[in-house]
Amino acid sequence: MDRKEFLKICGFSCLGVFGLSGMMQSCGTTHYASTNVQGNRLIVSKKEFEIIKNDTIRYRNHVVSKIEGINYPIIIYKNLNDTYSAFLLRCSHQGAELTVNGDVLTCSAHGSEFGKNGEVIQGPAEQQLTAFKVQTDAQNIYIQLS
Ligand code: FES
Repeated sequence: MDRKEFLKICGFSCLGVFGLSGMMQSCGTTHYASTNVQGNRLIVSKKEFEIIKNDTIRYRNHVVSKIEGINYPIIIYKNLNDTYSAFLLRCSHQGAELTVNGDVLTCSAHGSEFGKNGEVIQGPAEQQLTAFKVQTDAQNIYIQLS
């Protein structure tokens, strides 16, 4: 193997490693929150939205919760003025589980997309996502499951 061939192979290998690590970082952006169910309420600590790094607090704009007994995860968005909204990650078209891509929720079955308010951005789905009633206090978010 000559020098030029070696550099070419190393270059592609490095690109592959950097590309893979970049993909893994973007896949790692969804935070699965530790939650608690009491009666019909899902309780999420507001601290689940905090990212503490070097004594600085930043906030996630969403977390996801998987709950035993419910077939689909729930996404909780942090909105302006410390308000929150919560949606079932179930496509309103034919019920496939949605993938979270930041503020866009994507269905891999037939390509529907939903916004962070549960609205349809792209069909074939026509109905918005199932939304939950949300209440808060200073520490927690309370999501009414039924
Ligand atoms: S089930 Fe989601 S687009 Fe069809």
